[in-house]
Amino acid sequence: MTTRSRFLLDAGDAPTHWYNLPADLPGEPLAPALSPETGQPLTRAEMAHTMPEPLIDQELSTDREIEIPEPVRRLYELWRPSPLHRAYRLEQELDTPARIYYKYEGGAPTGSHKPNTGIPQAYYNKLAGKTGLVTETGAGQWGSATALSAAFFGLTAKVYMVKVSYQQKPYRRALMETYGAVCIPSPSVETAVGRAILAEDPDCPGSLGIAVSEALETFAQDPGQGYVLGSAANHVLLHQTIIGQEALRQMALAEDYPDVIVGCSGGGSNLAGLTFPFLGEQLRGGRPVRLIAVEPEACPTLTQGTIAYDYADTGRLGPLFRMHTLGHQFVPPPVHAGGLRAHGIGPLISRAVEDGLMEARAVSQTGCFEAGVRFARTEGILPAPESTHAIRVAIDEALRCREEGVSRAILFGLSGHGHFDLVAYDKYRAGTLTDEVPAGEVLARAAAGIPEVVGA
Ligand SMILES: Cc1ncc(COP(=O)(O)O)c(C=O)c1O
Repeated sequence: MTTRSRFLLDAGDAPTHWYNLPADLPGEPLAPALSPETGQPLTRAEMAHTMPEPLIDQELSTDREIEIPEPVRRLYELWRPSPLHRAYRLEQELDTPARIYYKYEGGAPTGSHKPNTGIPQAYYNKLAGKTGLVTETGAGQWGSATALSAAFFGLTAKVYMVKVSYQQKPYRRALMETYGAVCIPSPSVETAVGRAILAEDPDCPGSLGIAVSEALETFAQDPGQGYVLGSAANHVLLHQTIIGQEALRQMALAEDYPDVIVGCSGGGSNLAGLTFPFLGEQLRGGRPVRLIAVEPEACPTLTQGTIAYDYADTGRLGPLFRMHTLGHQFVPPPVHAGGLRAHGIGPLISRAVEDGLMEARAVSQTGCFEAGVRFARTEGILPAPESTHAIRVAIDEALRCREEGVSRAILFGLSGHGHFDLVAYDKYRAGTLTDEVPAGEVLARAAAGIPEVVGA
C-alpha cells in the first residue's frame, strides 16, 4: 500500500459513461412514479411535460451504462476528475488504525457535487429548445449549480430558495445572481401555492417541498422553460455516479478498497453517486462493502419515515414516488444543513435501504459541526454542513476501529465546502447552535398526510 495522500486521475482517464444501478438491482423492478392526476403509473407523455426525451430515457433505463455526451464531458473537465484524499492527519488525531479516505467534490466551481447533474440537465434542455430553467434549492448549492449550468448554455434561470437558507446564506443568492439567475425566497407571493402557505403562516421558514411546488407552478405557466431538479430522481442519481466511478479507479491507485462507504443523505444524489458504482461491483459478485446513509436528526426520513407512495412537493403538483417519507407536509426545523431538509428521498436509495443493501443513521447538528471543525483543523478543508454528517459517521466508524483494534478502510463523500456557511460555524463556536429534533406528534401529524395509495 502506498503512503501517498492524494490520488488524481488525468482528464483522459475520466469515465465516459454514467453507471445505472437498476441494471444490477436484484428482485422486482423499481416501483413506477404515479401521476398526481390519475394515480396510475406516469406515462412517457406525462413525463414529457417536465423532461426532455433523453432524460426520460435515463429515468426509465435499465441499461448498465449510459454515455456521457461529449459537450458535458468537456464541461466536467473544468474541475473533474475530482481528487480522492487519504486523511492521514485525521487518522493520527483520532489515533485510529482505520484508513480514512474522502472524495472531495468541493472543487467544483459552485462548491459541491451539484453541477455534475446541473450541466447535463441544462444541456438536454437546451437541445430540446428551452430558453430557460426553473428550479428550487434548499441550501443554495443546487441553485448555484443551476445558475452556472444555465449560463454555460445561454439559458435563463429562476431559482426558488427555501426562505430560511436565503436568510442564512445571502451570498449564495449573490453567487446565483452573478451567474445571471433570479433567486426568490420561498414561500413567495409569486405563486398560488406560496400565497396560500403565507396566508396560513406568514413566518413559514419554507421547505424543499414548498419550493418544489413553487418551481413547478411557475414552470407550468411557460412552455419555453425547462424544469430541472437537484436530487432524488433516477436520472439525477445517475449523473452523480461519475463520483463513485472515479473513486473506484482512485482506490485502485491507493492499492486499497473500502470496507465502509459513508455519505450524507438529502434527496440522495451524492450518496448514490459515490456508493452505487461500488454497490454495482458487489451485486455483480465483487467485494461486499457496507454503505451508510447519514441524515440529520431534524429530518429523519430514512430512520423514521414510512415507505409509501407520497408526493415530492408540498403542493401536490408533481408525481408520487414510492420512497421513505415523513409526509409531504413535513416542514423540518431550520438546521444549517439546508440540503438535507427533505421529507422524501430518491426511490433508488429508498430501495437500497429497504433491501438491506444500505444502512441509515441519524445524527445531531452539534455532533456534525464538532466533526466538521475537527476535520477542518486536521485536513484543512472547511466542509459544508451537509458533508459534516458524513464526516461525523466516518469518525465514529474510525473510533470503533480503535476500540475493536481493527484496521478498516473507510471512504466518505465530502460533497462540498462550507465557505458560504461561516455564520453557522460562528454560531457553533459561540455555543448558540442547538440540536433540533422534531417532536413525536409533529412527525405523526405529517405522516397522517401521506396519501392512501391502493396496492402500495
Ligand atoms: C454540499 C451538499 N451536500 C449534500 C447535499 C444533499 O443533497 P443530495 O442528497 O442530493 O446529495 C446538498 C444539497 O444541497 C449539498 O449542498
